[in-house]
Amino acid sequence: MQTPKQASLLKRYHLKNCLPRHVAIIMDGNGRWAKKRHLPRIAGHRAGALSIREIVRLCGELGIEALTLYAFSTENWKRPRQEVRLLMQLLKQYLRSEVEELKQNNVRLGTIGNTQDLPDEIREELKKAMTATAHCTGLRLILALSYSGRADLTRAVREIAKLAASKKLDPSNLKEETITKALSTRDLPEVDLLIRTSGEFRVSNFLLWELAYSEFHITKTLWPDFRTPHFISALKDFQGRQRRFGGVESVVGSVTTWAH
Ligand code: FPP
Repeated sequence: MQTPKQASLLKRYHLKNCLPRHVAIIMDGNGRWAKKRHLPRIAGHRAGALSIREIVRLCGELGIEALTLYAFSTENWKRPRQEVRLLMQLLKQYLRSEVEELKQNNVRLGTIGNTQDLPDEIREELKKAMTATAHCTGLRLILALSYSGRADLTRAVREIAKLAASKKLDPSNLKEETITKALSTRDLPEVDLLIRTSGEFRVSNFLLWELAYSEFHITKTLWPDFRTPHFISALKDFQGRQRRFGGVESVVGSVTTWAH
């Protein structure tokens, strides 16, 4: 159900009603943003956190159901120790400073990824923020932390294999849905739109199974510069696409009416 505020936002930004239900973003280019300004890399990450704040608020206001942000990949652990430490600090600050804003905007925080790899203090902070927003019914903000699409698939396959070994599942009855339901994204809508900033054409081990039918929007804009107008452009790009889901009929219209 669209609220009058959502309707007026769509009008203000000249958007159609057919918004993606789930947007995923590969936030890239923080380092290059900082380099261009002769600043340390962490300055780019800090500016990137401000983009997160703005985009989360906007998604909530527009009535998008889920936003998944690639905040830290398993590969990111290979970065210099100092950068990893500062990124963790920034995440902690973000969680502390944003929790009230998330609550006010009815945003429920969740995570995907190997969060057990994160430092204890970060896990504590995440737990607090998730508990504080557990009652929120608006946007679901999912932070992918120590995330790897292949690792999530491997874990899912392992679980399924165990079920088969204990005869709780007949392998000949294995359906795509069995895999979808074993992934950490199981309770989220299909990813309708993937945005990647900084112009790279890669999925970088993000949501490998879940991106099967997603529309991709790649922009050269670096993540710290990616703000409301850029997100609106991505939505307009999405709304101009013809989604066929492998079929022949071209469909333009509300994703809420599209069968995935
Ligand atoms: C990639 O930029 C960005 C990341 C490592 C992840 C995104 C992290 C943030 C936006 C920081 C704040 C996060 C939270 C959740 C508060 P890059 O360093 O790879 O950029 P480059 O490719 O230009 O070097």
